[in-house]
Amino acid sequence: MARILVTGAAGQLGRSVIRHLLDTYGLAPADLVAASRNTTKLPELAALGIETRRADFDDEAGLVDAFTGIDRLLIVSTDELAVPGKRLTQHKTAIAAAKTAGIRHIVYTSMPNPDKSLVTFAPDHLGTEEAIKESGLPYTILRNAWYHDNYMMSMPHNLQTGTWYTAMGTGRIANISRDDCARAAAAVLVDPPIGNRTFTLTSAESLTAEEIAARASTATGKPLNVVHVTGDQLAEGLKGAGLPDFVVNMLVSADANVAAGNFDLVTRDFETLTDTKPQSLTDFFEGKKEQMNPEKQGL
Ligand SMILES: NC(=O)c1ccc[n+]([C@@H]2O[C@H](COP(=O)([O-])OP(=O)(O)OC[C@H]3O[C@@H](n4cnc5c(N)ncnc54)[C@H](OP(=O)(O)O)[C@@H]3O)[C@@H](O)[C@H]2O)c1
Repeated sequence: MARILVTGAAGQLGRSVIRHLLDTYGLAPADLVAASRNTTKLPELAALGIETRRADFDDEAGLVDAFTGIDRLLIVSTDELAVPGKRLTQHKTAIAAAKTAGIRHIVYTSMPNPDKSLVTFAPDHLGTEEAIKESGLPYTILRNAWYHDNYMMSMPHNLQTGTWYTAMGTGRIANISRDDCARAAAAVLVDPPIGNRTFTLTSAESLTAEEIAARASTATGKPLNVVHVTGDQLAEGLKGAGLPDFVVNMLVSADANVAAGNFDLVTRDFETLTDTKPQSLTDFFEGKKEQMNPEKQGL
């Protein structure tokens, strides 16, 4: 069996990928390496017999050591968004280290339509995809749609007030669960598709704000009214809530991207890679209805 390394193993996606490699695809712990900036965050993986290695995309020499002896590498994109350009530099560092270390197949978590996306961080993903192609390494790019899980940051508050302010307009967005993204990544690591391929991972439907709100409402039994605002108005509200500028800009740009139709993309790539159906937003909300309920959240 090829040796597989997952970066960002302390993060939510990285952890789920490793769980799917073990539980869904039946890999032995000895086939895996879990890598993180801080391996002390991985005690339960070490306890399973999985080798842990330190991998920080700000440290190229350390990355070459971490990637040595590995056949297939999953690069989980970092969450470094506060400093423009830093994330792309980190990813390029990881790709260069992968090449030096002799990685045989590279898998990367990107985003839908990075070439025309209005989202502030789209250039990071586009630049990383280009760097992977330029490296000459065999690759699979997984363009993960916006997670269902992202709604958990705002929906409890929206449901408490009964109002969701959005600048999505009449645009549609196809989401997918983080766990399904992890399952697809694990599938690719176990059995990489032949040739260099790019997949866009989405669930089976693309929804308007009203359709998303109706699903949240049905799951929780709480009314939720969608109020359409401009990007500037949304930015004012988010700043007023105390969010840092780079987060405000990112959230407003994401809504603008929906409004422009760039997230209105449904594919069957998840099913192709995993032979299973993606979880719908309805089922995701149903499974999270306790956490979404404002009373249960103490809001
Ligand atoms: N599609 C979406 O809707 C969506 C939503 C949120 C995030 N994302 C992207 O997908 C990635 C994984 O999502 P998630 O939910 O697992 O996010 P998360 O739980 O916030 O994890 C952040 C990840 O970034 C890694 N990281 C940060 N700095 C790093 C560095 N210097 N070197 C190496 N790794 C570094 C962390 O690895 P360690 O802590 O193990 O070092 C961790 O795996 C995120 O980092 C982000 O790029 C996508």
